Amino acid sequence: MRISVIGCGYLGAVHAAAMASIGHEVVGVDVDVKKIDMLSRGEAPFFEPGLQEILTEGIASGRLSFTSDLAAASGAQVHFIGVGTPQQKEGSAADLTYVDAAIDGLRPFLRAGDVVAGKSTVPVGTAARLAERIAPTGATLVWNPEFLREGWAVQDTVDPDRLVAGIPAGAAGERAASILRAVYHPAVAKDTPFIVTDYATAELVKVAANAFLATKISFINAMAEIAEVTGADVTQLADAIGHDVRIGRRFLGAGIGFGGGCLPKDIRAFAARAEELGRGESVSFLREVDAINLRRRERAVQLTVDALGGSVFTKRITVLGAAFKPHSDDVRDSPALDVAVRLHGLGASVTITDPAAIPNARRLHPHLNYVTDRDDALRDADAVLLVTEWDEYRRELSPEHAATLTTGRVAIDGRNGWDAAAWRAAGWAYYGMGRP
Ligand code: UGA
Repeated sequence: MRISVIGCGYLGAVHAAAMASIGHEVVGVDVDVKKIDMLSRGEAPFFEPGLQEILTEGIASGRLSFTSDLAAASGAQVHFIGVGTPQQKEGSAADLTYVDAAIDGLRPFLRAGDVVAGKSTVPVGTAARLAERIAPTGATLVWNPEFLREGWAVQDTVDPDRLVAGIPAGAAGERAASILRAVYHPAVAKDTPFIVTDYATAELVKVAANAFLATKISFINAMAEIAEVTGADVTQLADAIGHDVRIGRRFLGAGIGFGGGCLPKDIRAFAARAEELGRGESVSFLREVDAINLRRRERAVQLTVDALGGSVFTKRITVLGAAFKPHSDDVRDSPALDVAVRLHGLGASVTITDPAAIPNARRLHPHLNYVTDRDDALRDADAVLLVTEWDEYRRELSPEHAATLTTGRVAIDGRNGWDAAAWRAAGWAYYGMGRP
């Protein structure tokens, strides 16, 4: 099938390459010429395991190309919209400028019978509005939210745990749904749930999923706060409640909380949209979820200050991690980087290391000190903070080895990723999040 993908950011670039990898003929379109040049050369513009390989293959096969010219979308049967919907500069609602621009730019190239599949995360009600805008072309809009996780984006795109298609009532909608089934043929062939809904439900599925995940993380972090004043251990608590299959252990990792380009902005946009709809109170708990989450960053900073005797001024602190989570170079709203910046603001001499995210972190905070090699970064530190649980820091760094490099013996475990007993046995003062 001939496919166009409008927007080649995280979502779009992976989607384009993944669609080519399952046999489609794909053109990716983006206004960012630099990004298009990189992608056209087969270079992944960001760190994502497996992306490089499918880009190279796709381009070599001749089935995958990239351009900044929207006219190249002409002739495709399915047009995916994968542009960003960032938080508005003023306020917490989503900025739909890029979605609107993509639809308007695409309109002249749409033919009757084409399918436009929206993947961007949008406020409920957007699809109905966009459908009216493309109606005169005879193309059909479907809303096909994306659930990929950074770090697993390729796998999540090719082999998702579910597919959702919001369609309009009537024959055109049914036809569009069957075209989408053909697009996702490998997943459909293995009976991946394919849920057909109306527009509003499809839009809400996406934000509800992210709101639930954010709530789950903040729930366990709220328990960590209670653990901190009672001497309980939140990791044991999470293990114990996680055995209940109705609760489940995943996403009960207490620590410095969630960040990234999705969860924080999506819960804020959802709350803002609910208020517009006169139902603000229905999701007012999301404001609390956000507040709990942000408090955990401050908690990690306070733990460090306390552990270093009440002040971090001129103390040498090594921060292990900058990315918002492992297997990603993404530093958007990264709790790890935020903690580093706050410590720097308190006068600490902060050294940051990360296996993938240093270039992005440096672009955002050029004044901070970055060291690529983990052991070099650890040398002579007074305190060490684990803030992104890369294997290099969590599993592969032994407390005995770390102790040969640092001056101090203060370990702050912002992700509860270390074995507290092992660190203590090696002579460290160990501090976890919500752990005694
Ligand atoms: C999230 C969702 O998980 C995806 O399903 C969704 O498609 C995506 O947003 C999106 O909307 O595009 P992602 O942002 O890649 O994916 O990251 P997650 O794996 O969800 O992690 C988010 C944050 O939560 C990270 O900062 C992570 O460190 C933190 N986290 C995760 C915790 O603090 N504790 C946990 O137990 C799990």
